[in-house]
This record gives sequence, structure tokens and C-alpha cells, in this order.
Amino acid sequence: MSDQTEVLNASFTPRIFSGIQPSGNLTLGNYLGALKRFVQKQDEGIETIYCLVDMHAITVWQDPDALKRQTREAAAAFLASGIDPVKSILFNQSQVGAHAELGWLLNCVARLGWMNRMTQFKDKAGKNAEKASLGLYAYPALMAADILVYQATMVPVGDDQKQHVELTRDIAAKFNHDFGVDHFPAPEPLIEGAAARVMSLRDGSKKMSKSDPADASRINMTDDADTIAKKLRKARTDAEPLPETIDGLAERPEARNLVNIYAELAEQTPSQVVAEFAGRGFGDFKPALADLAVSVLAPISGEMKRLMDDPAEIDRILGQGAERADAIARPVVEKTRDIMGMVRSRQV
Ligand code: TYM
Repeated sequence: MSDQTEVLNASFTPRIFSGIQPSGNLTLGNYLGALKRFVQKQDEGIETIYCLVDMHAITVWQDPDALKRQTREAAAAFLASGIDPVKSILFNQSQVGAHAELGWLLNCVARLGWMNRMTQFKDKAGKNAEKASLGLYAYPALMAADILVYQATMVPVGDDQKQHVELTRDIAAKFNHDFGVDHFPAPEPLIEGAAARVMSLRDGSKKMSKSDPADASRINMTDDADTIAKKLRKARTDAEPLPETIDGLAERPEARNLVNIYAELAEQTPSQVVAEFAGRGFGDFKPALADLAVSVLAPISGEMKRLMDDPAEIDRILGQGAERADAIARPVVEKTRDIMGMVRSRQV
């Protein structure tokens, strides 16, 4: 962190914000890269705000009934992983209108040149960018609003979201500069651990993603023990045994990915894992990894199932979280409008 950023951020209450799209089954990548970290942060004495970003999800087509189910299921995944809705604020984005409102204000601050550099838009829109929604293109400005509407100072994310958090810092800095204020902090991306980028089980150069059409490319948090074991058994690897040190994995992306996953699940470093399995082949390693993955994920998916039996309770938790989130976000948006010169004379 630069000295300037440190001074600016010191004037804000330390606060953590992060979000996950309820656009399908959450994956092992979401769990290791994000959810598991969210739970750790919850107990560090800093305010934590976690959001199911349904308004981001609709930047690509979502069946309305499926979106509702996925949002509740993602909420269940948070709760089952250890998010305590009293300690943390947990809600879905669309219940707090301040996100969309600040999103518009920040659309007018973000520059087209900045948006054009966003690699995720290029990946998601693919060759057919003309047919992508305007929302998909503007999405990173809404993400900036998600973070800045809470004046959050820290954003735990996987590696793939780093560019969006950096854009958020640029938008915040431009706003502060243009209006001569210190209204927004410069949020820090927190990208930690061996699993900040879990790769596809089919292609070590692609990240594991809930939107990959091939289900075998990922482990879903709701997969049962047999499915997890089968997917890992079929995971693409090479024919070499595991090396003595992690340097030996430099040119072996698929092997490195499985070692990183093992390390995160076992709370070890990749070096420790390699030391334990050195000289052994994947015939040994994959079943050990499958057992470990099942031992971590099965209790979580069991608890998710239990929670999904009572959707009204999930909705109640999200509603209460939204109330608490709104109480923080509303005054920030009002202040933002005021700074930008908008008259407010309505009696409320
Ligand atoms: P999303 O829904 O794609 O992913 C949610 C979180 O999971 C992490 N993640 C991964 N980590 C490691 N390996 C993987 N294969 C992997 N796949 C996903 C992501 O990095 C992310 O932390 N734009 C965001 C959601 C969002 C958000 C925000 C995040 C909206 N507003 C504000 C932080 C702050 C997204 O699409 O994440």
C-alpha cells in the first residue's frame, strides 16, 4: 500500500465487503478462493459484509425461478460454510437499492477506456460482443458501487477479480479528485493462499468456473462423494510422479492445480503436500485428494440441504441482512449525490 493510500484509508472504519454471483452451483473454486476466506475474516474483529450479487447474475440470461433457487442455495452455502448472520451482514444485492443507484453515479465517473481493458468482459462476451448485454459491459462499475457504497477498505476475492478491484480504486480516486473530497477509500484486494486461482479439472490453463458448460471441469459444492471421486479420478494430469519440490511443478499446470487444491483443503502449504507425496503417481494422489475433498465438502453440502428445506428462514436472514446493509449504504449514496450537486428537497 502506498503512503497516500494508507493515510486515506486510515480515515475510514476498516470494513470488509465481498460478493458471489448466484448464477449457478458454487464450485470448489468459489469455496477455496472466496467463501473459506470470508469465514476466516468474520472472526478477525472487522465488520464483514457479504452479498449474493443477483443484479450481476442477470447480466447474462437467468431463468427467474432458477435465479431464486440459486440465490437461496448460495445463501445456504454461506451459512453452511460458517458465515454467522449475526456476526456478518449477509444479503442479496437487489434488496438494497443503493447498489444500483451508486452504480449509475459511478457509470458517469468510469471511463470507456478503462472498461475496454476488462479481461473478464472480453472472456464472457467472447466473439459475440455485439450481442452481449449493456449490463455485462457496465458490470465492473456496479461492482465498484457494491464496494464503495459501504466505503469498504478490504475486498477478499480470488485472483480473477483483482482487475475489477483495481478498477474500483481508479473510480474512487477519480471521484475524490474530480470533486475535491476524500469520500471513498482505496479498497485493497485480499488475494491469499494456494487456491486463489483454482483451475479447471479438464484444462489447467482455464479457471474452474460455474459457467463452464462441462460439469466434469469442476467440483460443485453440492456434488456427492461418488461424483467428487469420479471427477477427480478423471481430472486431466500428466504421467509423471509428483516431484520432490514445488519447483518441479512449474511446467505442469494440471498437477500443480491438484496439489494446490490438496494444500488448501488440508490447511498445508503446497511444499508440504509435495514432500508427502514425492515420487508417487496420481494413482495414489487422486484417491487421497478425493477422500480429503469429501471430508471437507460433505458436511457443508449436508448442512446446505438441511437449510434448503426451510427457504422462508433463508429469506428472513437475507431480509434482515438487507436492512442492516441499507442502514450503512443509504447515507453514503445520499452524501454522494450531494457532493455531485443533486438537489434533494423531498420530505421523507
Ligand atoms: P464470482 O461469482 O465469479 O466468484 C465469487 C468469488 O469466487 C472467486 N472464484 C475463484 N477463486 C479461486 N479459483 C476459482 N476458480 C474461482 N472462481 C471464482 C472469485 O474470485 C470471487 O472472489 N464480480 C464478482 C462478484 C462481485 C464482487 C463484488 C466481488 C460483485 N460485486 C464486489 C467482490 C466485491 C464475481 O463475478 O465473482
